[in-house]
Amino acid sequence: MDADLPPSLAARVDALPDGLRAHVERVRVIARGLAARHALDPATADLAAAAHDVARHLPGRRLIEEAERLGVKVSDVERAAPILLHGPVGAAWLRGDSAALDPEVIEAVHWHTTGSPGLAPAGHVVLIADKLDPAKASAYPFQQTVRDAAERNLHDGTLAFLEGALRLHLERRELIHPVSAETRNRLLIARAC
Ligand SMILES: [Fe+2]
Ligand SMILES: [Fe+2]
Repeated sequence: MDADLPPSLAARVDALPDGLRAHVERVRVIARGLAARHALDPATADLAAAAHDVARHLPGRRLIEEAERLGVKVSDVERAAPILLHGPVGAAWLRGDSAALDPEVIEAVHWHTTGSPGLAPAGHVVLIADKLDPAKASAYPFQQTVRDAAERNLHDGTLAFLEGALRLHLERRELIHPVSAETRNRLLIARAC
């Protein structure tokens, strides 16, 4: 059990399958590095990274059931691609746990797959750190572009990831979550200001 984490969160992380737990540990290291690089609180980034995939092991059917049980709204896109629900379901679990986590941590967990317009810094750190896990190099062949952009600026890092992922989804004729498109637009508009 990790003494740096509140016991209820440590128990959730401990219960994950080995491969997923190893991914979470790598993401925590990357998130702490990004937080240090951008003068953010490393403890918040670490907590959010530790928590981000607490529901990632659930199969799609269970994610839909959990979302419905918890009152998480399920869109048509999410029903067709239920993996998109693992952030929202994980965030809902954490809200119900005994440890009162910082709302920025819960928000980071909720949106770590799609991004969200107006995401706080810890949310950008976790979204980017998750995608920079070396084990995801083949899933995201544009990983170095994201790494370079995130070194400069977290918003640029998220934008680079979203654009790379959107390109892949189009090439493969996969669904695109509307919040990802909206987040990308907002980041572009903010950049032009
Ligand atoms: Fe995830
Ligand atoms: Fe992850």
